[in-house]
Amino acid sequence: MTDGEDRSPEAPPGVDLEKPSAARIYDWYLGGTQNWAVDREFGRKIEQLWPHAKHGSRHNRQFMNRAVRAALDAGIRQFIDLGSGVPTVGNVHEVVRDHLPESEHASVVYVDFEAVAAAHARLILEREGATDWAALVQQDMRHPNAILNDPETQRLIDLDQPVCLLMIAVLHFVGPDDRPLDIIKAYTDRLRAGSWLALSHMTVPDDPEAAAGVLRFAEQYKSTANPVWLRPREEIASWFDGLDLLEPGVTHLTDWRPDFDADNLPPRDLAAKPFAWCGVAEKQA
Ligand SMILES: C[S@@+](CC[C@H](N)C(=O)[O-])C[C@H]1O[C@@H](n2cnc3c(N)ncnc32)[C@H](O)[C@@H]1O
Repeated sequence: MTDGEDRSPEAPPGVDLEKPSAARIYDWYLGGTQNWAVDREFGRKIEQLWPHAKHGSRHNRQFMNRAVRAALDAGIRQFIDLGSGVPTVGNVHEVVRDHLPESEHASVVYVDFEAVAAAHARLILEREGATDWAALVQQDMRHPNAILNDPETQRLIDLDQPVCLLMIAVLHFVGPDDRPLDIIKAYTDRLRAGSWLALSHMTVPDDPEAAAGVLRFAEQYKSTANPVWLRPREEIASWFDGLDLLEPGVTHLTDWRPDFDADNLPPRDLAAKPFAWCGVAEKQA
């Protein structure tokens, strides 16, 4: 679905078409097809208030892709992607398939609580014949035990082997009352040494003009099914305490092991740069 068109795919059961949802708006930012008029109208409004939403979403997605490739290069073969979103380009299982030699195998569990994300992920995995090694668990990521004990997780993930746990652009939908650090720890405590935690999270930029744009963005999300919480770098960085933070540490999305010249980004991309922090850490023995 391109911007401006008002055709929508048939909605899977359980989809709320009254309120825009984070998953479907993000799909629209990335140029996907699984969004409805209510999501597109919201996305267009956001673009006026903060013109970097689309660039920022792509930077976030590219960071996730680089983190997955780094985990594969480090020998990790299991991925749990919390808040995986509506599958668009560069999903974890696609990165795995493209990056690993054919003789090697890995497994992927996607987790999202939004009906469109779940339905579309299942469809794609079935269509690609990937259900032997990848699955979608429709669940709230604030319930670690429900996810780790889910039959699909147990079928695909061996917790005695290292896992790369991805929390990419999802924790800013988790409010302080839900205690994000406790949620992170509930997962990492169950993982064995050598496992990785990769996360990205929106923040308020230092630059006043950039900050105003991101604050307008977050304000608008209050009317959606998924309000956004912006957090400072220190808080996001503290979530890695007790783990071994991998180089280059907590950075802007484009600065984490870039495979392009991050210092020469186009001006619009540069302007979008400071809106989120990201990092990857390894659990030690
Ligand atoms: C901005 S998208 C990010 C998608 C993907 N992780 C990425 O970075 O490309 C956020 C996703 O998190 C999901 N989400 C938000 N809160 C969640 C929760 N408590 N449990 C599961 N999924 C959640 C939303 O439905 C949405 O699909």
